Order: sequence, then C-alpha cells, then structure tokens
Amino acid sequence: MRRDRTFDFMVKAKDLKLDVSHGPILYIEDLNVSFDGFKAIDHLNFYVDAGELRCVIGANGAGKTTMMDIITGKTRPDSGSVYFGQRIDLLRLSEPEIAEIGIGRKFQKPTVFEHHTVFENLELAMAADKRVFSTLLARLTGAQRDRIDEVLGMIGLAEHAKREAGALSHGQKQWLEIGMLLMQDPLLLLVDEPVAGMTHQEMDRTAELLVSLQGKHSVVVVEHDMDFVRSIARRVTVLHQGSVLAEGSMDQVQNDPRVVEVYLGE
Ligand SMILES: Nc1ncnc2c1ncn2[C@@H]1O[C@H](COP(=O)(O)OP(=O)(O)OP(=O)(O)O)[C@@H](O)[C@H]1O
Ligand SMILES: [Mg+2]
Repeated sequence: MRRDRTFDFMVKAKDLKLDVSHGPILYIEDLNVSFDGFKAIDHLNFYVDAGELRCVIGANGAGKTTMMDIITGKTRPDSGSVYFGQRIDLLRLSEPEIAEIGIGRKFQKPTVFEHHTVFENLELAMAADKRVFSTLLARLTGAQRDRIDEVLGMIGLAEHAKREAGALSHGQKQWLEIGMLLMQDPLLLLVDEPVAGMTHQEMDRTAELLVSLQGKHSVVVVEHDMDFVRSIARRVTVLHQGSVLAEGSMDQVQNDPRVVEVYLGE
C-alpha cells in the first residue's frame, strides 16, 4: 500500500515532537560567523520547508559548506538563530545530538566501510541508530531486512548487495553513503556536492534518487554543476558572500541580473 509521503513526513515529525505546522522544518535567522575577521556568513536568513528539495548554489567561498557546518553543530556561529521545526534550538545541541534528532549529512568524499559488503554497510549504518542497536546484535528482524532491501532498491545497488564496498565505482560509493544516511531515516538531509567526479549516467541516477526523497525527507543539495541543478531543482537559493542573493525557480534565479553579474556570468 502506498501512503501519501507528506503524511509519512508529518507522522515522523510528530514522533520526534518536531513542530513543522507552519511549513518550514529549518529556520536560519540573522546568522553571522567570522573567521579571523572574515565574514563567512553575513546576516543569513534561510528557510527550508518540510519535505522540500532545495538546491543551494554560489561561487567558491560563498559560505555554503559553512552553513551546513553550523546546522550540524560543527561550527558555532557568532550570532543568530537556527531552529529545527519551531521549537528545537540547534545551537544548544551537540553534533551527535543533532544527528540523533534526524539531521543527516553527506560530505563530499564518500566514507563507506571498504572491506564490508554493501549490505553490511547498510546494516552497520542502522546499528548506529541506538534504538535498534541491541536487537541488531542478535539478528536482523524481518522489518530491518525489508528496510535494507528497500534502501538497496532506492540507491540502485540491489544487485551489488554482496559486493565489497571497496570494489564499487565512485558514483556507487556515493549512493551507498546516501543509503547509509537513509538507514537512519533523517527528516533533513544535507548533501554537499554529490555529483563531483561522477559520469553523466551516474549524475542522472543521482538526480532521480534525490528527487525520489522529497516529500519523505527535506533535502538541501549544494552543487556547482548547473546542468545537474537544473535537472532536480524546484527552488534554488543563491548564496553570495555569506547571505542570500536570490531565491526562486531555476529560471528566476538564472535571469536575475545580480546573479548573472556575480555568479553565472563568470
Ligand atoms: N573553519 C574555518 N576557518 C577559517 N576559515 C574558514 C573556515 N571554514 C570556512 N572558512 C572560510 O569561509 C569562507 C566560506 O567557505 P565555505 O567553505 O563555506 O564556502 P563554499 O561556499 O562551501 O565554497 P566551495 O564552493 O568552494 O565549497 C571561505 O573563505 C573559507 O576559506
Ligand atoms: Mg563548500
């Protein structure tokens, strides 16, 4: 039976006591951070809706990765606020706590367990979820096995389940890592430059995968490859010198003269 995905999202958010009733799942307001006097994030306001797939673009050094570092607790801002739902103040939580309440992050370089099979990698990712850790030490339940199979299908690696992860192509490793994040069923997924180094075919598959996640997860994708962004984009945010320069559909931001001047026109 297929359920409405937004409905699934609301149920999950309710489990976590996350209030997304006003729409956004992520609120960033008047955020600032400087590194040795250099303003990497400058009065940034950024909102992501529950279930939305958002692309973030911007030149090198615009502050895209720094924004993700702040959301995930890796970097502490000088001022401003970052809320998950309406009530959870992320600036008061540690990096592991933020991961635990449902914010997953994919770094650029894939970090899979090379000497384990694809299946085992997904199994280990599930074990990182404390709620299932004790049961996993015994044996996988039917539901857990089903979830691994489901994720294997989503990431297109069902036929590679028994292969060692180290033998996968670069693109397949990236999908496996996204799959490992999905095992934790995050409400918000942050993905930094997922298609760097991928073939065109791998990029198309990645686009399908990310598009398939919306509704069930909120996804923020940072990417430089404009063809890729165009292929998945719903709403696009252009960051420039640590704040939002433009936001809208791909067509809107591409035709925005300020964006053309500082970014796309280069
Ligand atoms: N921990 C840090 N210490 C010092 N400077 C930093 C730190 N993190 C980021 N910066 C600086 O902040 C600015 C923004 O960097 P950031 O990595 O967020 O950019 P980006 O938009 O992700 O760029 P790219 O597209 O190249 O990945 C850069 O000038 C960078 O050198
Ligand atoms: Mg970056």
